[in-house]
Amino acid sequence: MTPAKKKGRVFSGARPTGRQHLGNYLGAIKNYVALQDEYEDTIYCIVDIHALTTVETTKEIRQNTYEMALDWLAAGMRPEDSMIFVQSHVPEVLELHTFLSMVTPLGKLTDLPTFKEKIRHQPHNINYGLVGYPVLMAADITLYKAIVVPVGIDQAPHLEFTREIVRSFNYRYKTDVLIEPQMKGTKIPKVLGIDGENKMSKSLNNHIELASSPDETTKRVMQMVTDPQRARRADPGNPDVCNVFTMHKIFSSDEEVEMINTECRRAGIGCVDCKKIFAKNLNDDLAPFRERRAKLDEEPAEVWDVLIDGGKRAREVAKQTLSEVKDAIGLP
Ligand code: TRP
Repeated sequence: MTPAKKKGRVFSGARPTGRQHLGNYLGAIKNYVALQDEYEDTIYCIVDIHALTTVETTKEIRQNTYEMALDWLAAGMRPEDSMIFVQSHVPEVLELHTFLSMVTPLGKLTDLPTFKEKIRHQPHNINYGLVGYPVLMAADITLYKAIVVPVGIDQAPHLEFTREIVRSFNYRYKTDVLIEPQMKGTKIPKVLGIDGENKMSKSLNNHIELASSPDETTKRVMQMVTDPQRARRADPGNPDVCNVFTMHKIFSSDEEVEMINTECRRAGIGCVDCKKIFAKNLNDDLAPFRERRAKLDEEPAEVWDVLIDGGKRAREVAKQTLSEVKDAIGLP
């Protein structure tokens, strides 16, 4: 018998960034998939409205939504078990966003480290929506009364902000309709890019795409930066500071990890051979995913149907919460 699933909803969202990379997979998607077996209700949202706050994520938003959905489904997110949908298909989130904005002190939003980072990044596009980004995120979470929100550590300030907004709202309107969610951090806090230095991200072009061909993947792996102290093949290396070794620990067998750990330190294996082993293991690991993805891509209409259907189901929940919210506020 399979163990009973925990009650309560899990909600997470991600901006449609197109084809997903290893960082997205290890940091988020893998967790989303696992939570489907742990919780009764899992809701995963492609937050296209949030994407409109920055110019890069606004471009090709439809195609990027589709590509991301393909990756999610191929990676094992199951529409039978999860509501998988597009944020803008449930417009109720915008209504709730407006209601929440009335209990949000503006200074709190402009003080958030995530906001400061954004204005550093795009000083010429500090739009109103960017300031309200965390309010919309709070609306995403509370609209579905989610209790668990799996996100990376960079989202911790947003989660804390959501909890504060819930308390303010419930206090102001003397209600308990909104639920304070708990953050669930991912096991791997930060996946480094092939530069071995920065968090893996498409915008830094230091990423390894899940859906690439085996050849492309191998090429990217061969570009990975290893222990910077190891200049020549004959120099001993230090796996503890090598991102390739970190990846081996995830994708290679215990024997291989053991062998590399020993041989690298005494220059018994070079970085090229070490990366070749990783590239092979990574490609083997991704092969079934890639096959499923290619198959799904044969019928784009079916992929859109999954999202549309998920949106319909999510909307039912949303309408119910919103009506409770309006009652609590005392709107005529
Ligand atoms: N802010 C998140 C990010 O940039 C995306 C997001 C939007 C989200 N709404 C959410 C995450 C709700 C968790 C829950 O990655």
